[in-house]
Amino acid sequence: MTKLWGGRFTKSAEEWVDAFGASIPFDKELVEEDIEGSLAHVKMLQKTGILTEEESEKISGGLKTILDKAKNNELEYSVQNEDIHLNIEKFLIEEIGPVGGKLHTGRSRNDQVATDMHLYLRKHTEDIMSEMSHLQEALLKQASEHVETIIPGYTHLQRAQPVSFAHHLMAYFWMLERDYGRLTDSLKRLNLSPLGAGALAGTTFPIDRHYSAELLGFDGIYENSLDAVSDRDFILEFMSASSMVMMHLSRLAEEIIMWSSQEFKFIELDDTFATGSSIMPQKKNPDMAELIRGKTGRVYGNLVSLLTLLKGLPLAYNKDMQEDKEGMFDTVTTVKGSLKIFAGMIETMTVNTDVMEKETHSDFSNATELADYLASKGMPFREAHEVVGKLVLVCIQKDIYLLDLPFEYYKQASTLFEDDIFEVLKPKTVVARRNSAGGTGFEQVKKAIALAEEKMKEK
Ligand code: ARG
Repeated sequence: MTKLWGGRFTKSAEEWVDAFGASIPFDKELVEEDIEGSLAHVKMLQKTGILTEEESEKISGGLKTILDKAKNNELEYSVQNEDIHLNIEKFLIEEIGPVGGKLHTGRSRNDQVATDMHLYLRKHTEDIMSEMSHLQEALLKQASEHVETIIPGYTHLQRAQPVSFAHHLMAYFWMLERDYGRLTDSLKRLNLSPLGAGALAGTTFPIDRHYSAELLGFDGIYENSLDAVSDRDFILEFMSASSMVMMHLSRLAEEIIMWSSQEFKFIELDDTFATGSSIMPQKKNPDMAELIRGKTGRVYGNLVSLLTLLKGLPLAYNKDMQEDKEGMFDTVTTVKGSLKIFAGMIETMTVNTDVMEKETHSDFSNATELADYLASKGMPFREAHEVVGKLVLVCIQKDIYLLDLPFEYYKQASTLFEDDIFEVLKPKTVVARRNSAGGTGFEQVKKAIALAEEKMKEK
């Protein structure tokens, strides 16, 4: 088979060598973007008089036929044609004859591939953001139903202070909100057109880069042709924001896994988001959450691979850069899938409020409250800490909790105690009173939910 660039060659590579250099097995994913970019390019070539109306219409018609074939899975790609760009060009020439060879006027595969990747990533970043919003909605819905549901809050995975379950879920809402912001921000820098930068230096043809950029919905063009064809920082930004998304999801995944264990029993996952065991009939495993926790690794890996790939590459295009694609596709698929699964999982899970309630009565997570009580009556906090620590010790020795300890012990420990402490020590009171901005107090949580709902309306 003759190569589209075969002119200066006297010998052809063997098929296995071609196969090693080819990107078509994976960059066929870019078929729609490639044709979209070419359609804009042709239109620009006509507008600037580089192609006649007839030529441009013929080429556009041919490209559209190929697009239809692609959508119907009718294209037979070949590794001899290396990548998606040359495969399409070859199909075009087969479809409309030699005039198809005019499509590549004033551009190179280097600006072409960069354009395709920008178009691809813009679309998929937007899709990911919309999946992210669904997950945020699911968190918000569960949160609004559980403002007054109390769980033990932890530090070091030791019970620390009770918190509203809504407050806990909303922590993830806000993490995702920042992730959403990072992706929004990355789109600003991504939405520039590399098209027309040529192989590296621009072109002698009187092209209009602003016009093709506008046709493709870009906000502007890369100002420097070398930069346009050789940087992949737009992918790195996406991958880095995606890594943080996955890091956040993996933390919630871990909590879902713990909460659905026999030890916690805080939640139960819906059957549709859990799996059984092939040997142990009683098992219901939180596989989806585990898998998302696991998939976080490959998203980090893709980021590190691309950073490493680009490190030290001289300007401009180098074939190394062909390796930028699979990681990008994989990150897109992984993040999109994980967000979608997560939204379903959160939406359908059952919250065992009784277990949570019971648990908050069987720990010392109200101890800080007692120290605050003494401090608010004038005792230096450090001293109050000591007094309460001793009371906790008495309880541990008696195998009871602070609410069960008879009042005389309190009175003995400090005359500042009055019998209102039993009200103060109730987990609900403990939570309610943490009414500082951003705290877990019910009023604060309701405020946060209302604010979050406003934010979601703007999306
Ligand atoms: N398949 C190539 C890639 O993905 C397209 C650009 C090829 N350019 C070149 N000068 N060989 O990077």
